[in-house]
Amino acid sequence: MRRGEIESRPGALADRAVARILAETSADETLYPQVLEAIGDSLGWELGLIWEAPASGDGPLTCAEVWCSPSAGDGAAQFAATSPHTALERSEGLPGQVWTTGEASWIVDFSAHAEFPRAERAAATGMRSAICSPVISGGGTLGVIEFFSSSTREPDGELLAAMASLGSQIGQVVERRRAESRAREAGEHHQAIVDAALDCIITIDEHGRVLEFNPAAERTFGYGESEAVGRDMGELIVPPALRERHREGFARCVREGTGALLGHRIEITGMRRDGREFPVELTITRIEVPGAPRFTGFVRDITERHLAEAELRASRARIVEAGDEARRRIERNLHDGAQQRLVNVSLGLRLARAQVEQSPGEAAELLEDALDELKLATSELRELARGIHPAVLSDGGLEPAIAGLVSGSQTRVRMEEVTAERFPPSVEAAVYFVVAEALTNVARYAEASEAAVAVCREDGRLRVEVRDDGRGGADPDGGSGLRGLADRLAALGGELSVESPPGEGTTVIASIPCA
Ligand SMILES: Nc1ncnc2c1ncn2[C@@H]1O[C@H](COP(=O)(O)OP(=O)(O)OP(=O)(O)O)[C@@H](O)[C@H]1O
Ligand SMILES: [Mg+2]
Repeated sequence: MRRGEIESRPGALADRAVARILAETSADETLYPQVLEAIGDSLGWELGLIWEAPASGDGPLTCAEVWCSPSAGDGAAQFAATSPHTALERSEGLPGQVWTTGEASWIVDFSAHAEFPRAERAAATGMRSAICSPVISGGGTLGVIEFFSSSTREPDGELLAAMASLGSQIGQVVERRRAESRAREAGEHHQAIVDAALDCIITIDEHGRVLEFNPAAERTFGYGESEAVGRDMGELIVPPALRERHREGFARCVREGTGALLGHRIEITGMRRDGREFPVELTITRIEVPGAPRFTGFVRDITERHLAEAELRASRARIVEAGDEARRRIERNLHDGAQQRLVNVSLGLRLARAQVEQSPGEAAELLEDALDELKLATSELRELARGIHPAVLSDGGLEPAIAGLVSGSQTRVRMEEVTAERFPPSVEAAVYFVVAEALTNVARYAEASEAAVAVCREDGRLRVEVRDDGRGGADPDGGSGLRGLADRLAALGGELSVESPPGEGTTVIASIPCA
């Protein structure tokens, strides 16, 4: 057989045309229309359709593309117009049959097949013969390709074989494109995660050079990705004094696949572009990719955590110090007050005993003095005890205790609302001391005409507010009173806020969880 003869066969023509399209067409949207047109034109069909099964498992076959020859009659155009996006069960109609058997099929008179759902439509639009072939890839059948003609065409074994071969060529390309698009989607998905991460993600090669620098890393270290990529990670983000050690540790990771750096969270010092150093938590993991080793560093700026930890330590120290100070004060008060008086009582009693026989009148006077002194000692002890933990608070709760503070204040104070509910002693004591300290401050500094107190439960928290209309300018760092309150509240999971614009009065608000 001569070469010219082979090439003029319709099957070979279609084969060549399709091969060229598959090789040259990069856009998915134009692949199917071009393939249908090339096959339809070279094999003399008027109407072509491609049916696809969903890429993800079950579901009907849907018509993904329709082509109608410009030279076809109105009937073909009408049939084509009703086809896009129609669906057929996988066992339904000619496409279903071909899908199920996996073999190309030739139908001489489509309208005579009453079992085909589209037989009536074919009869009405004058479509007669049809050919249908599976679109097959290595992974199985992806869909079917189907052509119609308005003339009656007798089965042609050679054409059927050509269609089957075309179906598998198309299938391989579609499969490859699907795989590429899946990989592209996975890549985009991965990129989106890396971009959205709050932690810095820095990928490096086995020499420690940056391959990837995500937006969080850009924000944290101050380098743009394009500046960072290609540079030595140690040079970019590790302070000079620590670089050598970092390099040695990393080299060991590459060489031995182990090391303190690999797969552990470690706290080290990082350095921003402007040279400022800050604490970071770093984890380096080796990513399993073919070829040279790659590593990803996850870096988290822990400046705030360090500050919070330092504040916690300082506040604990202040609480201990405040406790010690309180004990010293009590000791001093006892020593200078009640203790002195009791010593005097004892002295007085001893003198009285010595005088009781010789001079009973003097002894009676001494006893009288001792009694007075004892009375003073008792009342001083009572005062002292009240300062440590007011008895009224334990007995009656916040309402009477705060009423006592309000009535004892040198400023006019309105008690707006104070809950009658009872709370744990530590919470009640905290509220009491907030109101006591705030009212004392009002009297000492505010020059206010009026103050107001409110204590109420709100959303699982106890809210304490002490407001005055004085001169404002309260500074929580200016003394130990407000800071001590903040520490006391923090120990209960609560917080203190002070708003005190100069000239506009002061509002102290404490909030304590009490669910
Ligand atoms: N209601 C207020 N109006 C105006 N200034 C205030 C008010 N409350 C506090 N201040 C100012 O804020 C500073 C800090 O108050 P804070 O209670 O912390 O300490 P202190 O009262 O000076 O000392 P301490 O409470 O330890 O005896 C005060 O020195 C005062 O200048
Ligand atoms: Mg104070």
